[in-house]
Amino acid sequence: MRLLDLFSGAGGCARGYAAAGFQVFGVDTNSARLRHYPYPHHRGDALEYAAAHGREFDVIHASPPCQLYSVSHNAHTKRHPDLLPQTRALLRDIGRPYVIENVPGSPMPDAMVLCGTMFNLTATDLDGVTVYLRRHRLFESSEFLWPPNVCLCIAFRNLGYRCAGVYGNGSETPDDAHARQGGYTPRPTVQRVLMGLDLPRDHLNQAIPPAYTKYIGEQLLDLLGVAA
Ligand SMILES: C[S@@+](CC[C@H](N)C(=O)[O-])C[C@H]1O[C@@H](n2cnc3c(N)ncnc32)[C@H](O)[C@@H]1O
Ligand SMILES: [Zn+2]
Repeated sequence: MRLLDLFSGAGGCARGYAAAGFQVFGVDTNSARLRHYPYPHHRGDALEYAAAHGREFDVIHASPPCQLYSVSHNAHTKRHPDLLPQTRALLRDIGRPYVIENVPGSPMPDAMVLCGTMFNLTATDLDGVTVYLRRHRLFESSEFLWPPNVCLCIAFRNLGYRCAGVYGNGSETPDDAHARQGGYTPRPTVQRVLMGLDLPRDHLNQAIPPAYTKYIGEQLLDLLGVAA
C-alpha cells in the first residue's frame, strides 16, 4: 500500500506509517527538512503534487502548516497562509482515503485527538525523574478512526507526575510562551527520547511522534482489508 505524505517535513509521520507497513512518499518545499526524510520524496508544493499524482496512491496523509492555529501563533511575526481548507477540499476531490493532522485550535470539529500519554511515551529526565510526553494533535479522516486510550495528562499532573511538551524555535533555551502557560520543556536529548525521533531540535519541534501514525496506519490497513 502506497501512502502519499504531504507537508512531510523531516518525516515524523512518515516513520510511523512506514512502521505500520506502508510504502511512504513525501512532499515538502523545505530541503533542510527533506534531508532528514528517510524515504523517497519530491521537493515542491504539496497541493500541486497531490492534484497531479494523488490518485496514484492508496492513502494520502497531510500535515498543512499549523502556525496559524497554534497557541503560540502570536509569537510568530510572519503571516502563514491557511492551507487547511484547501487541503481538505482537494483530498475530498481526489477521493482516496485520507488523514489530515493539525494542532488543537484548528478548525477540525470531527477530529480525533492523540496524546503521548496514550502511547506511554516516556523518558528519564536528566535528574532521574520519569517524564511523560504531552503532545496533543488532531487527526481528521475520511475513515472512522478511534483513539487507543484517553489522554492522561490531567490525571498525571494531578498525581504530581512530570508531563512535558516539545516546543521551541530551534534554540537550546526553553520556549518562553510555553513556559508562561505552565508548560515544561526538557532538554533536547530528553525530547528526542519522548518523541521517538532522533532529529535536530528545529525539525523535532515540528514533527509528530511516529507512534501516533503507526497506530493510525495499522488501523487504516485493517479498515482497508490489508493485514498490517
Ligand atoms: C508541521 S510540518 C510537518 C511535520 C511532519 N508531518 C512530521 O511529522 O514530521 C509542516 C511542513 O509543511 C511544509 N510546507 C509548508 N508549505 C508547504 C507547501 N506549500 N508545500 C509543501 N510543503 C509545505 C513545511 O516546510 C513543513 O515542513
Ligand atoms: Zn494529553
